[in-house]
Amino acid sequence: MASHQLDLNNIPQHIAIIMDGNGRWAKKQGFGTRVKGHENGVAALRALTTTAAELGVGYLTVYAFSTENWNRPKFEVNALMRLLVNTLKNEVDTLMKNNIRLNAIGNIDSLPSDVASKLKTVMDKTAVNSHMTLTLALSYGSRDEMKQAVQKIALEVKDGLISADDINEELISKNLFTSDMPDPDLLIRTSGEQRISNYLLWQIAYAELFFTETLWPDFAKEDLYQAISSYQNRERRYGKTSEQIKEA
Ligand code: IPE
Ligand code: IPE
Ligand code: MG
Repeated sequence: MASHQLDLNNIPQHIAIIMDGNGRWAKKQGFGTRVKGHENGVAALRALTTTAAELGVGYLTVYAFSTENWNRPKFEVNALMRLLVNTLKNEVDTLMKNNIRLNAIGNIDSLPSDVASKLKTVMDKTAVNSHMTLTLALSYGSRDEMKQAVQKIALEVKDGLISADDINEELISKNLFTSDMPDPDLLIRTSGEQRISNYLLWQIAYAELFFTETLWPDFAKEDLYQAISSYQNRERRYGKTSEQIKEA
């Protein structure tokens, strides 16, 4: 499938991705270490970012490291953190050239200090960019995010800044890490797993879901086109009837 087969007037504004299958990819290729999968996963993310920006996607939000991923062997966690710092160093010029803003969601303070500081440097540098926002979910867990939002809101109630009656869906959204972005329209997960793994649980309430067998390092342009094509063939009803949607 090619990009010209897509309806450019109906590109999802926000695409969220669970980049899964790096370890299995490395094993399949015969590499002795899962880290090779992560390295090739970075290459896939680079290519995807370019393609998404070309199509006019406004927000691309990728799951790079979950709160649960801290439980992996120390060797793998360290390798992922090294890879992250190096990638940030290598990609900043491309982000600037392509007018892409880098953003992060999650517990950034829990990352090794050099990772957190490099991330902040690149985020500050790219803050002026406006073509697309690339958000890395790092040390991110949706339940943890919601827990923190509840704590912030509870404090505002306690301090008398708001009353419990003022709590509504909008206020909850505003207290999540994703407060400055629209909800995802399309969620893609690679590697054949059909689960959410604690990703953007609140925000994907009405996202269209797309699961593919492709392992993340193999995810190419065509896979993105296919996901978007599938999205474009769906009717988003938001609880209404099909007739109501067609009349509107
Ligand atoms: C996704 O690939 C990357 C991260 C979770 C960091 P995995 O490392 O989970 O690869 P599989 O699922 O074991 O193949
Ligand atoms: C989800 O993948 C997290 C990321 C892609 C960063 P996992 O591989 O950690 O998820 P589970 O454990 O298979 O659910
Ligand atoms: Mg996995």
